[in-house]
Amino acid sequence: MSDPLLSIKNMHVHYGAIHAIHGINLDVYEGEIVTLLGSNGAGKTTTLHSISGLIPLSSGEILYDGKIINGTPAHKIVGMGIAQSPEGRLVFPDLTVKENLEMGSFLRKDDRIGADLQEMIQLFPKLKERSKQLAGTLSGGEQQMLAIARAYMAKPKVLLLDEPSLGIAPILVQAIFEAIVQLNKKGMTILLVEQNAYAALKIAHRGYVLTTGEIAMQGPASELLSNPEIQKAYLGH
Ligand SMILES: Nc1ncnc2c1ncn2[C@@H]1O[C@H](COP(=O)(O)OP(=O)(O)OP(=O)(O)O)[C@@H](O)[C@H]1O
Ligand SMILES: [Mg+2]
Repeated sequence: MSDPLLSIKNMHVHYGAIHAIHGINLDVYEGEIVTLLGSNGAGKTTTLHSISGLIPLSSGEILYDGKIINGTPAHKIVGMGIAQSPEGRLVFPDLTVKENLEMGSFLRKDDRIGADLQEMIQLFPKLKERSKQLAGTLSGGEQQMLAIARAYMAKPKVLLLDEPSLGIAPILVQAIFEAIVQLNKKGMTILLVEQNAYAALKIAHRGYVLTTGEIAMQGPASELLSNPEIQKAYLGH
């Protein structure tokens, strides 16, 4: 197997005296959907923020394309090809849907921006209908779609998604997970943080389970789905 595109090595993260991440290792290979599961407070968002350069590591390394990226400013990490769709779908509420999508591409200098915008409104037809509407007036599910599409507009190699299904109506959850599969088929590598373990494992290639800052389990998604411990803890069996 080739080297991972993204690799976390023995990472520790603290918030003051709180030791949030206890030496985790995690690999994401090009073309994969990898899901990071775990309950409230496990450290999922902290892990994504660490990758994005929003939180400093206490120790350990994050490698992207073979290079150490921890310590690099967040905007440079976006420029290197890692984009995050944040938890709570933080869209710009006073900008229109189209303006939000344009914000996603503001670091780009290539001539494919218009084409990618078209691609996103085809993937999420709701966004097309609402392209001139202020993002703050969209439903929760629509804002989530917009947040994912905006992250895509940065044309990342790796897309970090933080709980895209959180607080969203079941029918839209399905549309969002289908869209994630479509993005992956377009060649995008995805690290998907979820509490909805079933839906995430259904679309992922591999998964990791984070329990209070440690990786408790990892493996192919199909194996995790049929693992009795996971079924008991996360799948409500
Ligand atoms: N800014 C902060 N200051 C202090 N502690 C924090 C901060 N952010 C997170 N933590 C703590 O770090 C731990 C991990 O939090 P994190 O937000 O990464 O969890 P999570 O797995 O994303 O949870 P959730 O599913 O609820 O979003 C928690 O104990 C949390 O209270
Ligand atoms: Mg979180």
